[in-house]
Amino acid sequence: MNTIDETYYFPLDRYIDPERMSRIREFAQSRETPFLVVDLDLIKERYERFQKTMPFAKVYYAVKANPMDEVIEVLRDLGSNFDVATRYELDQLLRLGVDPSRMSYGNTIKKRSDIAYFFEKGVRVFCSDSFEDTQNIADHAPGSRIFFRLITEGSGSDWPLSRKFGAHSDLIFNLALRSRDLGLVPWGLSFHVGSQQRDIGQYDDGISRAKYLFNCLRDEGIRLSMINIGGGFPANYVDPTLPMETYASEIKRFLHEDFGDVLPEVLIEPGRGMTADAGVIVSEIVLVAKKSKNGLYRWVYLDIGMFGGLIETFNEAIRYPIYFDKTGKSEEIILAGPTCDSMDILYQNYRYRMPHSCRIGDRAYIFSAGAYTQSYSSVNFNGFPPLEAFVLPRNAQPVATVS
Ligand SMILES: Cc1ncc(COP(=O)(O)O)c(C=O)c1O
Repeated sequence: MNTIDETYYFPLDRYIDPERMSRIREFAQSRETPFLVVDLDLIKERYERFQKTMPFAKVYYAVKANPMDEVIEVLRDLGSNFDVATRYELDQLLRLGVDPSRMSYGNTIKKRSDIAYFFEKGVRVFCSDSFEDTQNIADHAPGSRIFFRLITEGSGSDWPLSRKFGAHSDLIFNLALRSRDLGLVPWGLSFHVGSQQRDIGQYDDGISRAKYLFNCLRDEGIRLSMINIGGGFPANYVDPTLPMETYASEIKRFLHEDFGDVLPEVLIEPGRGMTADAGVIVSEIVLVAKKSKNGLYRWVYLDIGMFGGLIETFNEAIRYPIYFDKTGKSEEIILAGPTCDSMDILYQNYRYRMPHSCRIGDRAYIFSAGAYTQSYSSVNFNGFPPLEAFVLPRNAQPVATVS
């Protein structure tokens, strides 16, 4: 039932401090929407938080989450390493002066020519989860270090990365043996618990499966020395998660329970947890309409939708905090995007509220939108250009970047 007339309440201070918000408002004032604005200070803060809470882990930032040059530059200067998915990301990192020794080719699905390209450019760390790919790595990146990705269920996560990636332990066991025979250096194991993982215990499962394989392979003379626990670290969406500090202390406990006092080299590949909270999408209400005279809910169409960068609203998986900058009585609404595709509905089951006083042309702010938005936006669907992204200026003047 549509609960009309409830006073509009949005916990703004859970997502942004007032000073940042006023800078965003100011920046947005004279600018065509939609666009993403990213606060680089927050990226720095997140990187430092990973370092502080998980000092035992080396960070490999997952470039795909937010590949803006400025984000990469900040992380490069802070000393981050990079999880690279394609030769295009590799080219970008090289252009920005990142040394290949700070990269790993983490995509298990790659062409032989791409493996050769990475090798030629100096990358010596590859991930695999199949015999075919491992053979290709041996052929085109001889002598490289290789790590193997375990399959996970992804349960407990908002955006699972199951089935398509990783392989079962028995296959990985044989793969490690084969890689040695092929002249590669079996380095370690990886897994990804699913993105925006809310169940910290999923890391425990992955770690104990990895430890079991460490033992089995040691019996065969292979001494693995690295565990890569992937991403899954939380961003600040509508449903709260435990704080990052709890993720870190629990993961540390799991690692020590399985590996004892001396840990292998630990890698993490945060994407969402690094960049999501640093980004705000500024959008505009295009239309507010009812579908029937007695319809309960009004449809609110924004100028950004699934194809403009909010594809992770698919099945309402990621629930972005969406803020209408008005006060007063409010109503539950259905939120949709601007394109001519009926799939382009953001939220119709989970009910967002909008103040009655909102009008066509008013702004809507989408928080925690710095990850998997601009990089997902379509190039020309319905003629819409890809989502523009800017760095939030520390003072008044905007600095334009990627379009
Ligand atoms: C191999 C790999 N590592 C890390 C990540 C980043 O995960 P998250 O955004 O959950 O931190 C991804 C995301 O797709 C991935 O595919």
